[in-house]
Amino acid sequence: MPDPVDLRSDTVTLPSPEMRRAMARAKVGDSRRGEDPSVRALEEYSASLFGKQAGLFVPSGTMANLTAVAAATRPGDIVIASSASHIAGREEPGIAGLAAVAIAGIDAPGGIFTAEDVADAMAQMPPKSRPRVRLVSVENTHNAGGGTVFPLAALRGIRSLCRKASIALHVDGSRIFNASIASGVPTAAYGKVCDSLMFCLSKGLGAPVGSVLVGNADFIEEARQAAFRVGGGMRQAGIMAAGGLYALKHNVKRLAEDHANARRLAAALAGIPGLEVVNDPVETNIVLFRWTTPALSLPAFQEAIAASRVRVDDRSFPLFRAVTHLGIGRRDIDRAAAALRAVVAKAA
Ligand SMILES: Cc1ncc(COP(=O)(O)O)c(C=O)c1O
Repeated sequence: MPDPVDLRSDTVTLPSPEMRRAMARAKVGDSRRGEDPSVRALEEYSASLFGKQAGLFVPSGTMANLTAVAAATRPGDIVIASSASHIAGREEPGIAGLAAVAIAGIDAPGGIFTAEDVADAMAQMPPKSRPRVRLVSVENTHNAGGGTVFPLAALRGIRSLCRKASIALHVDGSRIFNASIASGVPTAAYGKVCDSLMFCLSKGLGAPVGSVLVGNADFIEEARQAAFRVGGGMRQAGIMAAGGLYALKHNVKRLAEDHANARRLAAALAGIPGLEVVNDPVETNIVLFRWTTPALSLPAFQEAIAASRVRVDDRSFPLFRAVTHLGIGRRDIDRAAAALRAVVAKAA
């Protein structure tokens, strides 16, 4: 039976033997007491990559965003974000329930917006709500937008508006290294245009667990307290932090391969009658494509594609998402494209 080709997400990666060895060797201590050397090394290295003073290692991207929002706002405040962002679409119940803030969404193509869009969103609010806008959050790369890279110029514009209005700027940089590799913008430049930034170790970087939030020291201390409140104070977490540190040192440059594989997949899919690539050109590791005239139900499609041991994200059927990652090579891409071609042709 062929190996599975799992393109549902870049979260499905498995730690390599070398990463597992680094984790097994990690020096650990009680991280909650600040005594885990591997966690501290990861936090310090992460902060340095973005030119920030401090870092906070938490179990997930969701907790990194939640603690960033909690640290930057007070109950009753408003956060502005793209309406298709993860923070607005998936995390809002947690953020509203735990940080007691509301999210005002901006509808923007690919999830990319500008300072003018932020100003417009504020202008549409009742005057008494405007002073309560305490945070803008941008997602870079933007997942639902198709892995779109937030242009540095747009970030600078938003940053300058935020400064004038005493609003903090947070970056959900779950895939910030994909953005940096695709655009050539150094991570420090992304760090310079925001107050806080979080990134995930367990997406394209291939580590099993964790995200890091970076910012100035006071902010990170606030976020650390917020993480404790929701049970994010970990103990011998250095075993996981060591996997993250390994990922940062070994798995960043190779993201370019994932981007090339995503473009290869998009080119192959564009040649299949009945399929249409939605995010053309593909910017990073995410391909969105649509079956324009679906001739199968979702369960029938799943059964047909499963026979080839290929998986894509079909939660928005007949719109699909395929995400490349370090478990996927060129041959896997060709196999996935051939499987999709066969399913679509047979159903027609
Ligand atoms: C852009 C973005 N932000 C945040 C998250 C949440 O990360 P986690 O699944 O680690 O909580 C995700 C997860 O897919 C994401 O894609």
